[in-house]
Amino acid sequence: MNTYQNLKVNIENGICTITINRPDKMNALNRETVQEIGAAVKEANENKSVSSMIITGEGAKAFAAGADIKEFMGLTKEQGMAMAKAGQDVFQSIEDCPKPVIAAVNGFALGGGCELAMACHLRIASENAKFGQPEVNLGLIPGYGGTQRLIRYVGRSKGLELMMTAEMINAHKALELGLVNYVVPQEELHAKCVGILNEIKTKSPFAVGAAIRAANAYDGVSPNPIYGAKGIGFETELAEFGKCFVSEEIKEGISAFLEKRKPNFN
Ligand code: COA
Repeated sequence: MNTYQNLKVNIENGICTITINRPDKMNALNRETVQEIGAAVKEANENKSVSSMIITGEGAKAFAAGADIKEFMGLTKEQGMAMAKAGQDVFQSIEDCPKPVIAAVNGFALGGGCELAMACHLRIASENAKFGQPEVNLGLIPGYGGTQRLIRYVGRSKGLELMMTAEMINAHKALELGLVNYVVPQEELHAKCVGILNEIKTKSPFAVGAAIRAANAYDGVSPNPIYGAKGIGFETELAEFGKCFVSEEIKEGISAFLEKRKPNFN
């Protein structure tokens, strides 16, 4: 396993926990940390003994309080765009990961921290978690995919409000808006994530990856009453549905059902 300057990585029962380890800086995401998160997710995805991942922050205060503001000073337009592109690429690699990735949001998830949580497939928040896109306070906007993902989760109207006002919302509000899946006491956060991942582990890994790929292709197109289902999202669903029939796992899943036993996909 690689060693990282800003992360702690631990694998237990097939679950790789990636912990951002800059607690004295509220786990702020400097460039090196963003690159390391990308490398750690890639490494875990390539490791056959890993079935899923949890991304979290060290300590009880912050998941990640955003990009490292000190690194913004004096950037040119081109340097700003390059920084955003590097972040977007890493966060996209998390969203595209075929193994489930849960954000265990243990405190502040602001700016790039909120964007990181949104790039994960599910978000479980502790009761003290706070979410927000405060970039306009700095004269900036979200640049790691946040303008797009926030709107996907909470809708255009509320998403724009959060981006324009920089309002910080608590975990229960985030749950109400659909930004997080569950809110739990902080001491139960890791166990809740492990419980969900252990449940997913009993399912067909190929089908889980296919569901992620199809969901990621969502393009906002609804079935048309005259022309039927169209658009890249529906086309991807068709292709992924078809691919499931080529996988060995469907044979096990259907046989197990017919034989009235639990499937064994391992
Ligand atoms: N970038 C760089 N450093 C950060 C940071 C960030 N995004 N967020 C926090 N830090 C640093 C602080 O500068 C401070 O460092 P210091 O001890 O060397 O001065 C340390 O983390 C602790 O933060 P502090 O502000 O003292 O803690 P707090 O409990 O009073 O407030 C926050 C916590 C999260 C509300 C506050 O730190 C904050 O607003 N952070 C910036 C959030 C933000 O705008 N994110 C978007 C960036 S694009």
